[in-house]
Amino acid sequence: MTTWNLVGTQKHILICNGSSCMRKGGEEVTLAIRDEINKHELDSHIHTTRTRCNGRCKDACVVIVYPEGTWYRSITPEIGRCIVKSHLVNQHDLLDAMIYKYSSEGFVKVTNIESPEGISKIKERN
Ligand code: FES
Repeated sequence: MTTWNLVGTQKHILICNGSSCMRKGGEEVTLAIRDEINKHELDSHIHTTRTRCNGRCKDACVVIVYPEGTWYRSITPEIGRCIVKSHLVNQHDLLDAMIYKYSSEGFVKVTNIESPEGISKIKERN
């Protein structure tokens, strides 16, 4: 068991390790992102967590960056490294891989690439 002191951590990357994402290279994506973080000596600023399914399996492999609330799709190890370099080091969203971004109105879809809309949670509540 591990208990990190997260005081001072600035970003949290959730890397989906659910079954669909693992079939699409989730393990390799996880290792690539962590390696890139180490290369940039950002380990004390960026915390990573392997998650179970995030509910966007058709977008596998899914990676989410907080506190921005940016969801990325179809992540390969190479794109995972780009997320670290572009989003986390240079503060530029990786637009080509984005699905959602958090705003004052909640998550908004930001992708022009083909990504399934999915089942509406709002309809399910009515
Ligand atoms: S397994 Fe990753 S979103 Fe479902």
